[in-house]
Amino acid sequence: MDPSRSEPSGQSTAGPAAWRREFPALDAPVHGRRLAYLDSASTALKPRAVIDAVVRVFTHQAGNVHRGVHALSEAATEAYDAARDDIARFLGGRPDEVVLTSGTTGALNLVAHSWGRAHVGPGDAVIATALEHHSNLVPWQALCAERGATLRIAPIDDRGRIDLEALAGLLDDRVRLVAVSQLSNVVGTIAPVAEIAALAHAAGAIVVVDGAQAVAHLAVDVAALGCDFYAFSGHKLFAPPGTGVLWGRRALLEAMPAWQTGGEMVASVDYARARLREPPHRFEAGTPNIAGVIGLGAAIRYLATLDRAAIARHEARLHARLREALAGEDRVRVLGAPEAAVVAFTVAGAHPHDVATIVDREGVAIRSGHHCAEPLHHRLGADASARASLALYNDDADIDALIAALARVREVLR
Ligand code: ALA
Repeated sequence: MDPSRSEPSGQSTAGPAAWRREFPALDAPVHGRRLAYLDSASTALKPRAVIDAVVRVFTHQAGNVHRGVHALSEAATEAYDAARDDIARFLGGRPDEVVLTSGTTGALNLVAHSWGRAHVGPGDAVIATALEHHSNLVPWQALCAERGATLRIAPIDDRGRIDLEALAGLLDDRVRLVAVSQLSNVVGTIAPVAEIAALAHAAGAIVVVDGAQAVAHLAVDVAALGCDFYAFSGHKLFAPPGTGVLWGRRALLEAMPAWQTGGEMVASVDYARARLREPPHRFEAGTPNIAGVIGLGAAIRYLATLDRAAIARHEARLHARLREALAGEDRVRVLGAPEAAVVAFTVAGAHPHDVATIVDREGVAIRSGHHCAEPLHHRLGADASARASLALYNDDADIDALIAALARVREVLR
């Protein structure tokens, strides 16, 4: 058996306590306290299966991929190509529709620079929702500025839900593309992607989904979503940072020009010109993040050993508790009406960075700032927020620790 494909060993994978044990970062106290890691929306912790896979790459599979006939290169290539198959299965797509990128940002920039430059022209329009992370907004701003097109923003309500009627009203025959995140990294709302895709397609536009937050929490099936491109990052799915995926419909990928050029994406080259390879390789110039991609395959196989429905139930219960506990706290305002994974909040009289710094001293890790969604914060009447986010390894003690630490915030800032 290929050692890179071994499954997590040892403990039962049957429930939250066992899931927790697979994440060694949780074993080390922080500031002398049990770590309550509530920042998985920023980056998720890594299970032993991923850590072991990465160590294995540098000990037994340390060659380059697709470039050597020696044993280490072949071992690396086999594990790397297997990861692409795992990713395709995870998304419900085909391996030749999976482009390996540096992350969600790299994937969305690839769509903007390649598909976008070829299809968006003067007078055209792109729609992004008011929920978007900068990575699913700024590339479209840049594309529209370069191409003489207009960016239209689909509004949300005060709960953070997309106003579908308003979005439909923005769709006309000038719109080439609609960009939407499946799960908001700030307000935690779930977008009705399939409905948006139906509306967009009826108007002749394609749909690009930012799945960065969704992949670790929601079922992702690109066919059921009806999207044309789906982007996500490995590091939020328990894999190493610097890895990401762009899934694209095969027909769209085939017609797309290269964006970055160089080695590996060419079929043949002379001094005058190059003949390019077919997708996905056309979009994968240069030596890739080999260990990261193999780690991403390991993360997906690790998740496949778990009961995803049980994880969803566990996360939904914890999320409801977190949301209600925060909403009931003195001087705390929850942003929007979160549906999954994250709860962003403000504490009256305290800057979110101060909140995050004080709770960190109590062993509680949360994020503070605008979470790369500055316009969304302004839309919600805040400059910044603190944000607690969940993963399968969280438990009630983590929420208790956050609530206790917020009492400490009020004491310090009184
Ligand atoms: N996009 C990541 C977050 O929301 C980094 O924290």
